[in-house]
Amino acid sequence: MTAGHRIVLGLHRSAHRREIFETALRLGIRDLDTSYSYFDFASHVTLAKTIPDLLGEFFISTKIGYFPGSGELEHSLDPKRLFRAAERTATDLARPPALLMLHNPERGIILGDSREHYRESLSLAIDAMARASRSGLCGAWGISTWLHRSFLAALESTPIEQKPSVLMVRCGLKVSAADLDAADDLFACLDLPPEGRWGMSPFGGAPRHTFWKSVIYKPLLAPDEEVTVHQAAFRLSFELPRVDRVAVGCDSPEHLAELIQTRTLTVPEEAIHAYRSVLRELQN
Ligand SMILES: NC(=O)c1ccc[n+]([C@@H]2O[C@H](COP(=O)([O-])OP(=O)(O)OC[C@H]3O[C@@H](n4cnc5c(N)ncnc54)[C@H](OP(=O)(O)O)[C@@H]3O)[C@@H](O)[C@H]2O)c1
Repeated sequence: MTAGHRIVLGLHRSAHRREIFETALRLGIRDLDTSYSYFDFASHVTLAKTIPDLLGEFFISTKIGYFPGSGELEHSLDPKRLFRAAERTATDLARPPALLMLHNPERGIILGDSREHYRESLSLAIDAMARASRSGLCGAWGISTWLHRSFLAALESTPIEQKPSVLMVRCGLKVSAADLDAADDLFACLDLPPEGRWGMSPFGGAPRHTFWKSVIYKPLLAPDEEVTVHQAAFRLSFELPRVDRVAVGCDSPEHLAELIQTRTLTVPEEAIHAYRSVLRELQN
């Protein structure tokens, strides 16, 4: 990997054990990504309790948008709830996070919001994020989206004036041709510089799925690279789509060490072009 290819330790499925944070720092990983809703809504307080002495060494990104509901997570773009969650986040972490993202704002459309109501909700939610940033509750604000095409469609009908500093999208070999294209379109439509383009979930959260047994990855790497399929997939996730950082879940120090080794792997640009063309043809 070259400079700008940063590993972000993602805490979605993490046990929040101190050992993994110490390993990350030892390996030179200085980015953590969590959410208000992770670890049963206790990720922030748990981090503040488990690694109070180490937290200052990390660039912490987190997200708001999911709230405790009756039985399952409730998604909300209510600006008051979002602002209160931003305040609570800074309190629970005992510091403002470096980056606070609006978590999956496309949920509103999927849940059947009318177009007019969604347009207004999204714009108020974005105002709340920008206000949280101006109030010092976070260093900067961003957006994280799981369903790229839905969010792109929303932005096309609701252009936003205040632009996020970061957009985080799904990345890697599990992402469809249409979603890769939508991610590129989103980056362009939000005027995001290279460092504001982030990826997540390089194994789709299922590294043991049989899918990985059938992946033929050697043609996508420079000749003679000897790596595991997960190492190859992780390196390729920085190119699919092209992103600056990738948030990956890792509770095992050995896994994290394997991922760090991928920094030297070379991916020829023409191999990525060819892969995306073939993927488009297959999925058309
Ligand atoms: N909508 C959103 O905003 C959203 C949604 C999903 C994810 N995310 C972000 O993306 C992060 C990562 O997503 P994710 O955890 O869903 O999925 P993921 O990163 O695709 O997969 C995590 C899994 O990969 C395994 N793994 C890591 N390195 C490996 C290696 N070298 N070899 C084999 N297996 C390896 C980990 O196992 P071990 O734990 O055993 O090491 C873990 O079970 C999240 O923590 C979060 O920060 C955001």
